[in-house]
Amino acid sequence: MNHSRYPEWRAEAAEALIAPIVAAEPGPVLLCLQAVQAHFGYVPGDAVGMIAKACNVSRADAHGVFTFYADLRDTPPPAVPVRLCAAEACQAVGGRELKTEWATACGDDAVLAALTGVDEPIFCLGNCALGPAALVDGELMGCADVARLKAAVTQAQTAGEAL
Ligand code: FES
Repeated sequence: MNHSRYPEWRAEAAEALIAPIVAAEPGPVLLCLQAVQAHFGYVPGDAVGMIAKACNVSRADAHGVFTFYADLRDTPPPAVPVRLCAAEACQAVGGRELKTEWATACGDDAVLAALTGVDEPIFCLGNCALGPAALVDGELMGCADVARLKAAVTQAQTAGEAL
């Protein structure tokens, strides 16, 4: 059962996504990986092999591209992913403390933890002047704190349920 906003993985749907990209671009491994992730929320292992074949590169080459980019994931994302900036400017204005406080909040609330998943650190969101910065369900947040993160998670969850 799939509770996310993304459709269940289907090889035929992935092939339909990949075919026009391969036809239009030379060596579009990254574009294909991005297209699959944008559609399904992640890139299953089967998709890497499929993309390698479609792009006429080895599976190792396609896997190398996949593993190079930290934003590409091989497991379905949580319902409302929360990522905290772990780069220096945000650390200087409380990013480490926020990470600890967020981990505590998730530790105290199993529903929140399941909803937001593991914080996968991200390194600079280009919002250094308003740190600590975070991404909540892909939306940028400046001056993040636990209360604002929780409110944004609730808002994203409500918006997702309305779809
Ligand atoms: S260091 Fe966090 S947004 Fe740049």
